[in-house]
Amino acid sequence: MFFVKAIGILGSPRRIGNSAKMLDATLKVLSDNGFETEVVYLAEKKIGYCLGCGTCLMKGECFQRDDMDEIRKKIEESNVVILASPMYYLNVTAQMKTFIDRMLAYGHRPTLTGKYGGSIVVYAGVGDPKAVADYLNMVLRAWGIIPVGYAIGFGVLPGEVKEEHLKEAENLGRRILRAIEEGYKPEVDERGRKLQEQLLKLISDYRHILKADYEFWKKKGVLK
Ligand SMILES: Cc1cc2nc3c(=O)[nH]c(=O)nc-3n(C[C@H](O)[C@H](O)[C@H](O)COP(=O)(O)O)c2cc1C
Repeated sequence: MFFVKAIGILGSPRRIGNSAKMLDATLKVLSDNGFETEVVYLAEKKIGYCLGCGTCLMKGECFQRDDMDEIRKKIEESNVVILASPMYYLNVTAQMKTFIDRMLAYGHRPTLTGKYGGSIVVYAGVGDPKAVADYLNMVLRAWGIIPVGYAIGFGVLPGEVKEEHLKEAENLGRRILRAIEEGYKPEVDERGRKLQEQLLKLISDYRHILKADYEFWKKKGVLK
């Protein structure tokens, strides 16, 4: 098979927690089907906060040299990207959000195309985990990755996640395999169109500053 590498980005500080178990279940389906799989434990990485300086949008890449260099490379080399996070205060963990913020260049210049992905969210029963999974999939889409679905888990203590939720995680793995086989390409929906329109307006209005972004879209023939 052409698709060979799948990477899971884990936002939980618990290495053997519920999100980790769910992520392993998804990745196991892929490794059973010939993928090389890897998990990036964000909590064990040195990742500085985004400083909002805009260097990545103006010059092309972040000036900070930390573990994000290696993580970006791993993602670029992967064909499948899974984002997994427990719900913390109704949203993703700080580790996951810090990582997402540092991926800003991909959000403005979606170059992670030709890849499939999905998201995993675990919670303890308070809030709307589907909204969080939907958010993570929207992030993947912003980077150019096609999300095929999500899996939700329930648990409080580490590793408590139930069999039925692990099955859902396995199902996400199978959906990814099917998407690859069928060459799944969803239509851009209204929300996606609106976000793209807003992003292009921002880049166009600030093109004298957001030079790397502007050149990217100009080269594509999208901006003049
Ligand atoms: C700081 C913090 C905030 C949390 N906020 C929520 C929450 O808003 N809703 C919820 O259902 N569970 C919440 N939880 C519980 C975790 O989502 C739950 O324990 C989950 O199973 C942890 O997954 P993990 O084992 O992958 O770390 C929170 C836990 C912590 C430590």
